[in-house]
Amino acid sequence: MSFRIQPAAPARPNRCQLFGPGSNTKLFPKMAASAADVINLDLEDSVAPSDKDVARANVIEALNTLDWGNKYMSVRINGLDTPYWYRDVVDLLEQAGDRIDQIMIPKVGCAEDVYAVDALVTAIERAKGRTKPVSFEVIIESAAGIAHVEAIAASSPRMQAMSLGAADFAASMGMQTTGIGGTQENYYMLREGVKHWSDPWHWAQAAIVAACRTHGILPVDGPFGDFSDDEGYIAQAKRSATLGMVGKWAIHPKQIALANEVFTPSEEAVTEARDILAAMEQAKANGEGATVYKGRLVDIASIKQAEVIVAQAELIAAG
Ligand code: COA
Ligand code: MG
Repeated sequence: MSFRIQPAAPARPNRCQLFGPGSNTKLFPKMAASAADVINLDLEDSVAPSDKDVARANVIEALNTLDWGNKYMSVRINGLDTPYWYRDVVDLLEQAGDRIDQIMIPKVGCAEDVYAVDALVTAIERAKGRTKPVSFEVIIESAAGIAHVEAIAASSPRMQAMSLGAADFAASMGMQTTGIGGTQENYYMLREGVKHWSDPWHWAQAAIVAACRTHGILPVDGPFGDFSDDEGYIAQAKRSATLGMVGKWAIHPKQIALANEVFTPSEEAVTEARDILAAMEQAKANGEGATVYKGRLVDIASIKQAEVIVAQAELIAAG
C-alpha cells in the first residue's frame, strides 16, 4: 500500500438512482414513494429546450413541497456547453432550500468543468448563507471524460459519485451502436465458429472504478435503455457490481428492484464473508497469516475482500 491511505467513499446506500424528467411532474410523487436510494430530477436531456424554464421551476417546487423521505436528492443540470446550466445552478441554490443534496453535472470532459460549477455554487452558498454544502456527482460520457477521468475524480471536495453514461459515451467514442448499455451484437470473439460476446463497456467502467476508489468516490453504472429486458439489466448490473460499482441508474420504475437486488450483497455472500473473517481470526490466533477455507486459500487480503461485502451489507441495513 502506498503511504497515502485510500479514502473511504461516502457511507450512504447508492444502489439505485431513479431518473425522471423535470418536465413530467406526474412522476414526482411516484419517484418519492419508490424504493430508490437516490433520486435524479432531470433538467438535461429528457427535457426539451422549450421546457427548460418550466422544468427548472417544477423541480424547485417539488424539492420544496414533496416528502422525499430519506432519499438522497440530486438534480441533473444542463451541460456546460449549453446556455442553461448557470441558471440551473443559480435558481436551484437560491430557491430549492436544503432538501437538495447534490448536483449532477453531465458530460464532464475535464476537471475545470467541475471547477467552474464549484466556483458558482460556492459563491451562491456564501451569498445566501447556506450551511449545508451541496455535493457533486458527474457523468463520464465522452472521450474527453474518460481520458481525464482521474483528474475529474480529484477535481473538488464536493465530488461524491461518478456514473458511466453509456449512450453519449458511445456516440462520443464513435462506437457503432445505438444500444444504451448491455450486450452489443457485433462485439464478439470467434472461436471454432462459435461467437463469445465480450463487454465493450468494461474498460470505461474499470477506469471509472479505479479513479473513484483512488479519490473516495462512489462509482455507479448509468442507464440501461431496454427496460423490457430484465435479464439484460441484471447481467449488466452484476458485471458492474463485480467490478466494484455500487449501484446503477433506473430509467423506469421496474428497474429499481433489479438494482436493489443486485447491489445488496446476498445473505449467502455475507455469511461466507463472515465465515472467512472468522477463519482468519482463528488463523491469527494460531499465529498464521493464511489458512484454508472450503479448500481454497484465504489470507490477509481475503480479510479486506470480506470486509468490503460486510461493510456494504451493514451500510444498506443501516440506510
Ligand atoms: N419514475 C417513476 N415512475 C415512473 C417513471 C419514473 N421514471 N417512469 C414511468 N413511471 C410510472 C408511470 O407513470 C406509470 O405509472 P402508472 O402505472 O401509475 O400509470 C408506470 O410507471 C408504468 O410506466 P410505463 O407506462 O411503462 O412507462 P411510460 O410510457 O409512462 O414512460 C419513459 C416511459 C421511459 C418515458 C419514462 O419511464 C421516463 O420518463 N423515464 C425517465 C427518463 C429519464 O429521466 N431519462 C434521463 C436519464 S437517461
Ligand atoms: Mg447523457
